[in-house]
Amino acid sequence: MEKDSPCKVNLLLNILGRRPDGFHELETVLHPVAFCDRLRFDRAAKGIELTCNDPRLPTDGQNLVFRAADAFLKSTRISSGVRIHLEKRIPMAAGLGGGSGNAATTLLGLNELFGQPLAPAQLQQLATGLGSDVPFFLQSRPALGTGRGEILEPLDPFPCFCGAAFLLIHPGFGISTPWAYQQLRRFPWALNGRPGRARELVNALQAGPLKAAASGFYNSLEAPAFEKHPILALYRDFLVEEGAAGALMSGSGSTVFGVCASLADADRLADKFRTRFGSAAWVRTVPAAPAPA
Ligand code: C5P
Repeated sequence: MEKDSPCKVNLLLNILGRRPDGFHELETVLHPVAFCDRLRFDRAAKGIELTCNDPRLPTDGQNLVFRAADAFLKSTRISSGVRIHLEKRIPMAAGLGGGSGNAATTLLGLNELFGQPLAPAQLQQLATGLGSDVPFFLQSRPALGTGRGEILEPLDPFPCFCGAAFLLIHPGFGISTPWAYQQLRRFPWALNGRPGRARELVNALQAGPLKAAASGFYNSLEAPAFEKHPILALYRDFLVEEGAAGALMSGSGSTVFGVCASLADADRLADKFRTRFGSAAWVRTVPAAPAPA
């Protein structure tokens, strides 16, 4: 059995403070992006065998796919094994949630392969244990996230995103998520954001138009990321100056994205970006609302 494993962007990531458990309290607006890795699942006699087309990725217990499969087999007490192949296309340590999406798709894929032994609430619990962004990928709608990002309010598609497109730019280097969060103590205003921005952005996205709503895009983690990697700020500002309705760094970076009114606009902006910055960066354009299957 094969499944697509999509990625996401954060239209807003507003950090509200550090928690006693070491995580950060935040509010975020997550939007699915139909640029996908591919996962293949087969039953096997015993154990978990994971292979991947990208040799840089560990295929043992460090890999979230492996950990998701392990959590699934343990909680269902299934004694047979699985063989999983991961075709990686989404950049890694990129703020696009590629690994988190792979983990969620593995939970959904194995649950289907073995005849749905787990109820949605159990999948949710396993997902939360695997990472803050994993529960988002159990569903396919935009969402408002709170807590450490795992408490989700699924949202209706934003009308102003109809016909719009994402331009994704990955600079060719990654950013470690724990590193980005740790740096926040040097940026107290970014560590202690004003609560309520997420709901304001969602209201604006539901009322439209796109350009007005995009002025509410915000990411606290741009502060440490842009200080270390100023090229990311140049990328973001270039996208806005050259016609994107809005632009932001996604998650803990390093991907910067623009939202454009149409796929044709996003493709034109991608060409301008390559003309200005050369072809070293990874650049993709993706419709914001995928055509219905
Ligand atoms: O939940 P996840 O495994 O994706 O988190 C990775 C790391 O990011 C955590 O170990 C923590 O350092 C940081 N993090 C955080 N607060 C959050 C989410 C992540 O401090 N809300």
